[in-house]
Amino acid sequence: MILIIDFGSQYNQLIARRVRENHVYCIIEPPTIKIDAIKRLDPEGIILSGGPSSIYEKSSPKIDPAVFKLGIPVLGICYGMQFMLSALGGTVKRAGKREYGFAELNVKRETGIFKGIQKKTQCWMSHGDSIQRLPGGFTITASTENTAVAAATHRNRKLVGVQFHPEVAHTPQGKKILRNFLFDICGCKRSWSMKSFARDAIEDIRQTVGDKKVILGLSGGVDSSVTAILLHKSIRKQLTCIFVDNGLLRKNEAEKLKITLNQHLNIKIRFVKAGARFLKALSKVTDPEKKRKIIGRIFMEVFEAEAKKIKGAEFLAQGTLYPDVIESVSAFGGPTSVIKSHHNVGGLPKKMKLKLIEPLRYLFKDEVRQLGKELGLPDDLVWRQPFPGPGLAVRVLGEIQRKRLQILREVDDVLLEEIKNAGYYKMLWQSFAVLLPLKSVGVMGDLRTYENIIAIRAVTSKDAMTADWARLPHKLLGKISNRIINEVDGVNRVVYDISSKPPSTIEWE
Ligand code: XMP
Repeated sequence: MILIIDFGSQYNQLIARRVRENHVYCIIEPPTIKIDAIKRLDPEGIILSGGPSSIYEKSSPKIDPAVFKLGIPVLGICYGMQFMLSALGGTVKRAGKREYGFAELNVKRETGIFKGIQKKTQCWMSHGDSIQRLPGGFTITASTENTAVAAATHRNRKLVGVQFHPEVAHTPQGKKILRNFLFDICGCKRSWSMKSFARDAIEDIRQTVGDKKVILGLSGGVDSSVTAILLHKSIRKQLTCIFVDNGLLRKNEAEKLKITLNQHLNIKIRFVKAGARFLKALSKVTDPEKKRKIIGRIFMEVFEAEAKKIKGAEFLAQGTLYPDVIESVSAFGGPTSVIKSHHNVGGLPKKMKLKLIEPLRYLFKDEVRQLGKELGLPDDLVWRQPFPGPGLAVRVLGEIQRKRLQILREVDDVLLEEIKNAGYYKMLWQSFAVLLPLKSVGVMGDLRTYENIIAIRAVTSKDAMTADWARLPHKLLGKISNRIINEVDGVNRVVYDISSKPPSTIEWE
């Protein structure tokens, strides 16, 4: 296992991805981690990430320099290297100006992390400070035109530093450099796979839960479905899932879930039909924030009432993923923490006095999909695009009415069918339809129509923090528009949303 120390770099999750792609397990911890905790983790190697600070700043993040005496190999990246070399007696100078972008790396020694790397290769730089003087025992292994110490290594100890970022795609040989560190320098084994993860997680859950009961809120999305199947494999009948049908779901959504999870995989699910209650509370409400709050409140009430019926439940399982965990333990916070607070249904466990289990808390989204596959979840669920908790309520703009929900359901169904048939579904972060609170004039046959407008939203994204509108082929867009207007009563116009996030958001409300 590799320990990554988070000095605040925007790339630290990328470092973790790169390590895990090599089937080596890794975790990210803040620099405040204690030496004893590191010893307990017993990592094969440590990577110090980059970060936005300068080591001269008083508040710059620091890790206990005793970390360099543990005999564990260390790779410092950018700020991580500057911290290491200055902690060991070198000096760092403030650069006149920031070096940002591509640079040509001249490799002086094709050994260690540079084994098998061409003498001249491109790398990605992003730094203000540079190493001025190396501490004793270190030697320069690569330079660029502007940076004399682009990489350095200790002659006898396994301490290496790079000023550039090997984890980003702009450093084409970066993957190989990291592989050299993992396998040649740290001696890691390729033992991390979703198969081994599943085996360990199933055993862990058994140990933690014992003979107690567990409740899981099922949303129909990938994360909660994978959590469900993992728990089911581990504790079988001790697991009860609760699925709240809020009346704001897509066409046949609850039925489909029933067939896959309940009938095929035999997972115990309590379906609560609460649509009428949600719709009543939402009647005449048009403000998006009010809608969200009402839905969140009623969800909580319904879920709690149902959970109370399960006598003797001691645990609440959640499909929390690693990016959320990192953000919440990070010494630096991060933009995603803001997004979370408004999206997640918070407060459930505290109020219900249940102990939390989060078996996916060390996984990234793509690993969760792999795990789902490994556990036998059908493709349809494994590759499901995200769907917001408030459901179609934030896609029927303005007032929510049964009739309008019905129109949107039909439209959405046609849209997804076409996107899937054209092979675009997996490539898109999300693709969905929005019903606008407007009408426009049209002509059908010889008749004038005055009907609803549908907006199509299709975006590409890695993590929903930023997104770009998808350049779908005109032919496909044309077919989608034709089918919607011809097949769904009440729609006579379709438009395509060409805004990116930021400044727009993915959902319209
Ligand atoms: P926005 O619209 O903020 O959405 O760009 C970013 C991502 O989050 C999803 N989303 C939600 N998910 N509850 C959720 O579980 C919510 O209230 C919610 N609102 C937005 C959205 O679909 C996109 O993937």
